[in-house]
Amino acid sequence: MLQSLQAPPSHPTGELYAPAGRAMNPRIRDWRGARVWVIGASTGIGAETAKLLLTKGARVAISARNTDALTAIAGGHPQALPLPLDVTVHAQVLAARDQLLAEWGGLDLLLIVAGAYNEMRVDTFDMEVVNQLLDVNLRGVFHCIDALLPTMLQQQTGGIGIVSSVAGYSGLPKALVYGPTKAALINLCESLYFDLHPRGHAVYMINPGFVATPATAQNTFVMPGLISAEQAAREIVTGMEKGVFHIHFPKGFTNWLRMARLLPYRWYFSLIHKVTGL
Ligand SMILES: NC(=O)c1ccc[n+]([C@@H]2O[C@H](COP(=O)([O-])OP(=O)(O)OC[C@H]3O[C@@H](n4cnc5c(N)ncnc54)[C@H](OP(=O)(O)O)[C@@H]3O)[C@@H](O)[C@H]2O)c1
Repeated sequence: MLQSLQAPPSHPTGELYAPAGRAMNPRIRDWRGARVWVIGASTGIGAETAKLLLTKGARVAISARNTDALTAIAGGHPQALPLPLDVTVHAQVLAARDQLLAEWGGLDLLLIVAGAYNEMRVDTFDMEVVNQLLDVNLRGVFHCIDALLPTMLQQQTGGIGIVSSVAGYSGLPKALVYGPTKAALINLCESLYFDLHPRGHAVYMINPGFVATPATAQNTFVMPGLISAEQAAREIVTGMEKGVFHIHFPKGFTNWLRMARLLPYRWYFSLIHKVTGL
C-alpha cells in the first residue's frame, strides 16, 4: 500500500509527512505495493513513468490504445496490468476502471498522461484537428476523472496527477489548439486542489517543457531545454515523492516561461516573437 497517500483527511504530521507548510501534498516514501494507474503509457513520458514505478515496486496498470506496446512495456512483469482503452470512449474507460477495481479493490494514484499534440496556426486551422485534440486532451481527461473520482472520495485516500504542458501557461505561436487544451488542464488541477486537498487527496499538476518523444519528433524547430522521456519520468516521480503540487521541468526553461507570462502583454508578445521568430 502507498502509505503516504492513505493519510486521513486530518493530515497527521508523523514521520511520513513533510513539515506543515512546505509540501503541498503528502510525501511518498515507499512505492512498494502502491496501486497506480498510468493512462497514456504506451510511449514517451507515460511509458517511462510506468516503467520507473514498476522498478520501484508499485503495481502499475498501464493504458493506451496500442495493445502491443502495452504488452511489451508490461513485459510479463507480475505487477503490471495492461488495460487497453481509448480515453475518448467513455465506456472503455469505465470498463477498464471496473477491471482494475475487480483486480485491486482500489487505487492509490491515477496518473493521466494521455495527450495528442499538434502544431496549428491560423492558416492551417482545421476543425477536425480541433475536435480531436479537445476529445483526447480535455474530454478524455474528464472521462478518466469521472471513472475514479467516486472511488477515491469513497476511499478517502488516493491522488490524481494530470500531465498538462508549459504550453498551457500562456498563448504561444503554433499552439492554437494544443495550448488552450493544456491551459484548461492547468485550471482543472488548480480547481481540483481546492476540493481534494482538504480531504487528504494528493493533486499533481505536471507541466513538462520539451521532452524527446514520438509526439515532439514532428517538431522542425530547435527545442530549448530538451530532455529525454526517462529524465521526465524521474522528474515526475521525484516531484510526487516530495509532495510537490506543480511539477515542472526542466526548471531553466519552465521558470523562464513562468516569468515571461507575468510581463505586461506588450512585452510578452514582443519577447516571445523575438525568441521564436514567429
Ligand atoms: N513531449 C513533450 O515535449 C511534452 C511537453 C509537454 C507536455 N507533454 C504532454 O505529455 C503527455 C505525453 O506526451 P508524450 O510526449 O510522451 O507523447 P507520446 O509519446 O505521443 O505519448 C502519448 C500517449 O498518449 C496516448 N494516447 C494518445 N491518444 C490516446 C487516446 N485516445 N486514448 C488513450 N491513450 C491515448 C498514447 O498512446 P496510444 O497512441 O497507444 O493510444 C501515448 O501513450 C501528453 O499529454 C503531452 O501533451 C509532452
